Amino acid sequence: MAPDSLPTLQPQPTGDGSYTFVSTTFGEAFHSHYGARQEAEHKFVIPTALATAAQRPQLCLLDICYGLGYNSAAALHAIWAVNPQCHVTLYGLELNAAVPQAAIAHGLLNQWPDPIPTALAHLAQQQAVERDRLQAKLCLGDARQQIQTLAIQADAIFLDPFSPPRCPQLWTVEFLALVARRLAPTGSLATYSCSAAVRRALSLAGLALGSTPAVGRRSPGTIARWQPQDLPPLSPQEQEHLHTRASIPYRDPNLTDTTAAILARRAQEQAASSLEPTSRWKARWQSPHSGV
Ligand SMILES: C[S@@+](CC[C@H](N)C(=O)[O-])C[C@H]1O[C@@H](n2cnc3c(N)ncnc32)[C@H](O)[C@@H]1O
Repeated sequence: MAPDSLPTLQPQPTGDGSYTFVSTTFGEAFHSHYGARQEAEHKFVIPTALATAAQRPQLCLLDICYGLGYNSAAALHAIWAVNPQCHVTLYGLELNAAVPQAAIAHGLLNQWPDPIPTALAHLAQQQAVERDRLQAKLCLGDARQQIQTLAIQADAIFLDPFSPPRCPQLWTVEFLALVARRLAPTGSLATYSCSAAVRRALSLAGLALGSTPAVGRRSPGTIARWQPQDLPPLSPQEQEHLHTRASIPYRDPNLTDTTAAILARRAQEQAASSLEPTSRWKARWQSPHSGV
């Protein structure tokens, strides 16, 4: 399938009045249809507590799957609302330069106040920004390789690939281990996903897990930190999910496998597993006596 391009990336409205794109390459929207901006704020910026962290003089952000740049824009907005002097170092990882460029061409970042749209327009065109309060780099290419070039300790990591069945290469044990190594000791990693396989891969990387509210999606998201204190706990249902076959993680030993190879490897491991079938867990929690 041809990569998403400027002509194929056309704004589609979402439930909160903000716009997203639909990827013809991955067969999925870039954001929740309930609200693209709402998702950036409630699944990424609020869970990583950036408004509190912004009291520091400087912060480092890692935006994995930069896309239209909404997570970065919402983060800069939240940080500078609290501390306009906070210096932000931002790294965006993105496969396809046409995505951020199309967002700029359609004026989609203009919902945030200046200097955010002008700075991120420069980032989309030049892949780098050097300003008083912002140093940013857009690392173009496969995030599996780009992440290895970064020697950083991020205060917040946004993990926002397409869903695991569509883009398993960015949810594997091996990739998430590399991601975790770039998380500062007091930093937070947020993702919209509550997949048991993703949560298991994050916990294999040594991170403690919490659940973020199901704003704008049917399911909760995930927040991960090195220290478990103050994390919003997983519900009993979510904890049990981590003991089913759904928790068998995606693997990509050399960080070079295709989507099909990664999916096939996991399916094989699931077929051979003695863990509880996920359908049984699902039926248990759907029963009238389950309390949900
Ligand atoms: C769900 S969208 C991200 C939305 C984005 N965070 C935003 O706020 O607009 C996923 C993004 O991942 C990018 N992508 C897909 N595969 C990738 C890869 N292997 N490495 C880096 N980026 C990738 C896609 O081009 C797309 O822009």
